[in-house]
Amino acid sequence: MSLRLTALPLLLLLHFLHSTTVTSKKVCGRPVLPAQLKVDVLQRVYEPGEQLVLSCEQGYISAGGSRKIVCIDQGVWTAPTLKCLPRPCPVPDQILNGRADFDDIVFLSNISYTCNEGYILTGTNSSTCLHNGQWGASPPTCKPVTCGLPKIPQFAKMTYDKKFTGNETEFGFGGKYECLPPLALFGNERAFCAANGSWTEPPKCKFVSCPPPEKIDNGFLTLAVIREHGYKERVKYGCNVDYVLDGPAEIECEKNGQWSRKPACRAPCSIGIKRGRVFYNNKKLWIEDVKPNRLLHAEMVVFYCQDKQKGCGYPEASQCIDGTLETPKCFEEPTWNMYNLKAKSLPSENLC
Ligand SMILES: *[C@@H]1O[C@H](CO)[C@@H](O)[C@H](O)[C@H]1NC(C)=O
Ligand SMILES: *[C@@H]1O[C@H](CO)[C@@H](O)[C@H](O)[C@H]1NC(C)=O
Ligand SMILES: *[C@@H]1O[C@H](CO)[C@@H](O)[C@H](O)[C@H]1NC(C)=O
Ligand SMILES: *[C@@H]1O[C@H](CO)[C@@H](O)[C@H](O)[C@H]1NC(C)=O
Repeated sequence: MSLRLTALPLLLLLHFLHSTTVTSKKVCGRPVLPAQLKVDVLQRVYEPGEQLVLSCEQGYISAGGSRKIVCIDQGVWTAPTLKCLPRPCPVPDQILNGRADFDDIVFLSNISYTCNEGYILTGTNSSTCLHNGQWGASPPTCKPVTCGLPKIPQFAKMTYDKKFTGNETEFGFGGKYECLPPLALFGNERAFCAANGSWTEPPKCKFVSCPPPEKIDNGFLTLAVIREHGYKERVKYGCNVDYVLDGPAEIECEKNGQWSRKPACRAPCSIGIKRGRVFYNNKKLWIEDVKPNRLLHAEMVVFYCQDKQKGCGYPEASQCIDGTLETPKCFEEPTWNMYNLKAKSLPSENLC
């Protein structure tokens, strides 16, 4: 009986001792993990020595390290070493008439799509790399802006770059305006469907007339009627005998109502020496044998000058410029006596 009486407090004591050791031993709570790691936590607490198996969050893939963490005595988990990297998506293709911009191509990266000027984006302008390694949206397309048909002004016609049918044109498509003769085109000859969906400004076709063509000195208008002329009409000039045409023979009535620059008739020259010999037309001639003594505008003649110290001559050329032929400064006319001896050559012709 006494044993039974003393056994109960002992059991209570033992029970007391046991429960105090349990509460003083530290347990682990829910582990704190980096965002890309996950774990299935089933219990409220874990005893020291218990393990948990880690895995990568959706969109991340394992790149080495241990999948396990262990609850250690002080109630903390061992540091996780599992490495998880964002899953890559395929390198996106560039799009026609537009651009795909992106910094990275891994889980949660974005592509931003834009179309070039004159193109409209159809589809979505962005796409995100999903957890499964696929892009969330398919690339958009860039469709050209469309314009209607260009305005054709009265008295004009348009030649398109390419044949087309229908009543719609696309960005960049163009053509060339022409005004029907005799009208002149003012403005842009080229036109195209612009990025704003309109054609560029058409030109204007206007009637242009030039005053009756002017006469020229020492020349004449050939086959021309003295009257007003229309745009692009031409008249032709000629020169009197021995006069040389300087400039284009034909002039044209221009857009500004003025004629293009008319030519001039340049006068002939005569060689202004009484005695001497010259080289003209590939021949050496005494001046009195130059018949007629007349050079046409722009023709050349060579005189012979004398180097008195050396007793020899040297050639000096001169050109007829619109009625003026300069005798070289070095040229000296021989005396009447010397000249009329008519030696085979003059001293000035013995070339140095
Ligand atoms: C991608 O776009 C989404 C939605 O606009 C945004 O929340 C996210 O931060 C972007 N991602 C990056 C990496 O910039
Ligand atoms: C993309 O489209 C959205 C609406 O669909 C718009 O708010 C946003 O500005 C666009 N982004 C770009 C870069 O054009
Ligand atoms: C183009 O032609 C179609 C039919 O051929 C017509 O329905 C449409 O309105 C026209 N568009 C323009 C801009 O004239
Ligand atoms: C459209 O753009 C073209 C070329 O830049 C310009 O010539 C035209 O005036 C514009 N039209 C409109 C309606 O803005």
